[in-house]
Amino acid sequence: MTQWAVVTGAGNGIGSVIVRLAIKAGYRVAAWDVDAAGVAALASELGDECVSSVVDVADEDSVRAAIDALPEAPSLVVNNAGVVRFGPLLTLSAADWRSAVDVNLTGTFLVSRCAAGRMIEAGGGAIVNISSINGIAASPNAGAYTASKAGVIMLTQHMALEWGSGGVRVNAVAPGLINAGMSEAINADPEARRLRQARVPLGRLGTAEDVAETVLFLGSDKAAYLTGQTLAVDGGITVGALDKMPRPAVVDSVGLDGAR
Ligand SMILES: NC(=O)c1ccc[n+]([C@@H]2O[C@H](COP(=O)([O-])OP(=O)(O)OC[C@H]3O[C@@H](n4cnc5c(N)ncnc54)[C@H](O)[C@@H]3O)[C@@H](O)[C@H]2O)c1
Repeated sequence: MTQWAVVTGAGNGIGSVIVRLAIKAGYRVAAWDVDAAGVAALASELGDECVSSVVDVADEDSVRAAIDALPEAPSLVVNNAGVVRFGPLLTLSAADWRSAVDVNLTGTFLVSRCAAGRMIEAGGGAIVNISSINGIAASPNAGAYTASKAGVIMLTQHMALEWGSGGVRVNAVAPGLINAGMSEAINADPEARRLRQARVPLGRLGTAEDVAETVLFLGSDKAAYLTGQTLAVDGGITVGALDKMPRPAVVDSVGLDGAR
């Protein structure tokens, strides 16, 4: 039986790699994007296993029509479409704020709930939402993006709670410094790349494949008892919050015999 996967933001970057790995894993993929040329080029390269559509995840009518057009309920939905809008909160335009929230958070909500109705009728499935380490830790000039991506983490928990009894598992992935898609321009600067890489405990930037492999794992039966979770695919960055904390010798004497 054909198993359908829906991947949003599939026309570029990480999304296009998720599509490739999903096809390798045996899915037929509905590849959605607002970038008509990007998603059409991917479908023409990948053949029958990839069916492209122009879908704006922030537009409920567009999402509803695309879900209704699927021949079967999807087994896997990957909410990967995303935009970044940088700027300090004091001066960030309301349009930029709305754009980040509309695509990253509202888009994840609309696609998930349209799909979940069909998935529950069909007996279940898996949803994987792409958040970010920016949804876990604040970073300069990224307030709209971080707020939207933190929202994705809590939305993931709510959907897991509401739809678990319908057989739908919902998890999230929080990618770190990935050398693909929207971060390619940052990492193209050798000095920026060197400095950023030096902050990663595993000593390298992540790849789109690192993210896609985790997405496919969370979508698979190997993750059958996982729901509501967020996995940081970040080479260890988010566990290093205290890494640069000043550590005078007295700190290491605390708790030792003879110390206060
Ligand atoms: N690259 C990174 O370092 C990184 C790190 C953490 C999280 N992420 C997240 O990974 C996901 C993929 O990002 P990427 O790096 O591949 O960037 P990208 O810009 O290459 O891909 C994003 C895709 O989303 C599409 N998109 C934008 N608005 C849309 C809409 N309204 N409806 C449908 N599609 C829309 C774009 O056309 C594009 O194809 C995003 O959610 C991003 O926030 C990326």
